[in-house]
Amino acid sequence: MERKSNNNNGNRKIVYIETYGCQMNEYDTELVKAILAKKEYEIVKNELEADVVMLNTCAIREHAHRKVYGRVHSLRHARKERAEEPPLIGLLGCMATNLRKDLLEDRSLKIDFIAGPDSYKRLPQLIKQAGVSGAKPYDLTLSEFETYEDVYPRREKGVNAWIAVMRGCNNFCTFCVVPYTRGRERSRSVDNIVEETKRLADEGFKQVTLLGQNVNSYRHENDTFADILAAVSKVKGIERIRFTSPHPKDFPKEVIDVVAGNPKVCNHIHLPLQAGNDRVLEKMNRTYTKEEFLDLASGMKARIPGLALSTDIIVGFSGETDEEFEDTIAVMKEVEFDSAFIFKYSERKNTVAYKKFPDDVPDEVKTERTVRLNDLQQEISLKKNRAYVGRDVEALIEQEEANKSKDCMVARTDTNKLITFPKTGRKTGDLIRIRVTGATPHALKGEQIGP
Ligand code: 5AD
Ligand code: SF4
Repeated sequence: MERKSNNNNGNRKIVYIETYGCQMNEYDTELVKAILAKKEYEIVKNELEADVVMLNTCAIREHAHRKVYGRVHSLRHARKERAEEPPLIGLLGCMATNLRKDLLEDRSLKIDFIAGPDSYKRLPQLIKQAGVSGAKPYDLTLSEFETYEDVYPRREKGVNAWIAVMRGCNNFCTFCVVPYTRGRERSRSVDNIVEETKRLADEGFKQVTLLGQNVNSYRHENDTFADILAAVSKVKGIERIRFTSPHPKDFPKEVIDVVAGNPKVCNHIHLPLQAGNDRVLEKMNRTYTKEEFLDLASGMKARIPGLALSTDIIVGFSGETDEEFEDTIAVMKEVEFDSAFIFKYSERKNTVAYKKFPDDVPDEVKTERTVRLNDLQQEISLKKNRAYVGRDVEALIEQEEANKSKDCMVARTDTNKLITFPKTGRKTGDLIRIRVTGATPHALKGEQIGP
């Protein structure tokens, strides 16, 4: 593939962006594309065509971090091999905010510009400056107000669209770098979110997923997160609404009521537990106890028949003993989540845990605990999925051809289960009925039985 331009006079306009980390970053990349397209930048899908390459980075764990460092080197290497002028390389997102000094001073890394999550409107300027002077411009200002509500993201066509309803986090869980990299909480207005949803419906999207670091903290004037769910569900053409993530400490009863009573709001809640022991939870500054979490989960299940729950767990947080880890196992057995993301604790600079608590659980112990929890979760997920066999479910088609089987399509239940079934003439975005015929820990199998 040839480069479209190799313009070194400060007018580099062909951009390639790669995204790491969470859904909020996926959404932010769509914002960045819209901001640049408005200034006549062309967005390409092949890095070798671009004269500006941006990595939208994640800082949540060391692993994500290392991946980006490796990628910057490989980008430069690829151009060297082709005896080409290297592109300008810019870092966006959470790593940018946290590591300004290291990034700018690490000469071997050769970053040309940096923009934090609240500075994307300044990207055209930063790119221009980096191209002209060889300076290393950056903007890492964290804003109390920037919500990008005046930017309509540039999305790929599909079934689901992300919408950030709030940005930032005020919770300061002691292990987490997000409050430092993304700043304070701020919310968009319900009207603005509904406008965006209407446009999405006109473009053919069937599902929206509302995003926020803690959606329960959403506040705009007198409006709450439950108000957004109700308002968005009235938009014609949108069949399903999902959201992520709520915090267990302040889960509003009204949101549980909307999930229970509003057929468009999916019966799936992601409820990050992090740990099942009170001492560890307190040290993490999660501000709920194991009992409070268990009460919340059982209350939700009682109120919302067929609810699927998923969670995040951190193993090997500072000082976590074997007995304390057993408490996490016990909670997992009691709640029986449908699925769980299990992470080894990874110490992050600037956090309270980094400053006050040693990262003293050996890596082998973290690995053992991860394996145990994953094995347990596999068993639970299989049991939960097997309970679907023989039932008829409604599912939204996401892929007209499954990755692993050319003869199958893939749909998703409102409880967030993927289901593969032999191809029919139906299309992506269609809601269909499927009889479930089989289950694995990760997915269901079935046959379409009707529209
Ligand atoms: N180490 C490991 N996992 C972390 N998470 C957040 N910070 C860390 C960290 N320092 C996990 C939490 C959170 C998810 C998005 O990432 O489980 O819910
Ligand atoms: Fe991080 Fe806690 Fe905020 Fe989630 S709620 S982003 S884990 S500080």
